[in-house]
Amino acid sequence: MESAEKLSQDTLDQITKTDSLEKLEDVRLAILGKKGKLTSLMKTLGSLSPDERKNQGAALNQIKTTISAALDIQKEALEEKELNARLSTEKIDITLPIRPEASGAIHPITQTMDEVIALFGDMGFEVEEGPDIEDDFHNFSALNIPEAHPARQEHDTFYLPKQEEKSLLLRTHTSPVQIRTMREGKPPFRIIALGRVYRSDYDMTHTPMFHQVEGLLIDKKINMGHLKGCLIDFCRRFFECDDLPVRFRPSYFPFTEPSAEVDIGCVRSGNEFKIAAGEDWLEILGCGMVHPNVLKNCNIDPNEYQGFAFGMGIERIAMLKYGIPDLRSFFESDLRWLRHYGFKSLDIPDFLGGVRS
Ligand code: PHE
Repeated sequence: MESAEKLSQDTLDQITKTDSLEKLEDVRLAILGKKGKLTSLMKTLGSLSPDERKNQGAALNQIKTTISAALDIQKEALEEKELNARLSTEKIDITLPIRPEASGAIHPITQTMDEVIALFGDMGFEVEEGPDIEDDFHNFSALNIPEAHPARQEHDTFYLPKQEEKSLLLRTHTSPVQIRTMREGKPPFRIIALGRVYRSDYDMTHTPMFHQVEGLLIDKKINMGHLKGCLIDFCRRFFECDDLPVRFRPSYFPFTEPSAEVDIGCVRSGNEFKIAAGEDWLEILGCGMVHPNVLKNCNIDPNEYQGFAFGMGIERIAMLKYGIPDLRSFFESDLRWLRHYGFKSLDIPDFLGGVRS
């Protein structure tokens, strides 16, 4: 009995002195394992008289419980110690600058598109896509553009060799995505489509490739008031100017009726130019109520559904918002230009006008 108590005390001492989980396991096996000291003592119980066995058995069980509890406590302590040791060696220094430093910038076109998507997204518009190589039907005919329209002339458009009787061309605007969306789905629609468009022009304000954003909203009981509200909101939020004057000037597009061009207020004096409430106007987009013929071409009943559409040049609004003077510079891939006008890659544009660097 005495030796059992001594064994218990010695074991408890050993347990508290262990400094690793392996050593603790060794101690456990030496006492409670198959050939452990306590296990062996328990085996001797059979040779004792019933009374002795009862006393000795209870005592040994008590020792076993005490030792098991001590093992558990020490195990937990050692595990925590090992975890802390690992965490302290795995530390990362979050104050280090990101690598590689200043490795690139977001192009103003991408930045502007992200802002446009965020703003219209906030108004419930979804993004649609269409091909750059279009056919005559989607780019012109379905949009109610007559045979003799000047946009169809060779010198205004890039045509490709015919394929299966189809006249192929590089799309001259994003409006064919209106047709694709309406013919493929069911109204109501509320979409924007952003992408490249092509025209054979080249001077300070024209490049053969540029970007547009198209908007289309089709639903029941949609009127010109919705068109105006939507575009006025967009202009004021995009240019971050709550009292920006926005003017709808009657115009003509074959695929909208009535049609309008939208001007925003600006100030021009000498070399100075600023978007703000002022004396002057600057055109930024075309829009109108979708022509009934276009709806019919897309199997939509114009007596049931109406809506509006608009088309806007991305470079144009980027130049105005960020003060970029020459359209051609967007596509010259001059790194100095990109470093100056580009945006930081970790800036996330939000719908309150994007983040300016
Ligand atoms: N597609 C026209 C353009 O490129 C713009 C536009 C789109 C006008 C939608 C009205 C409605 O000039």
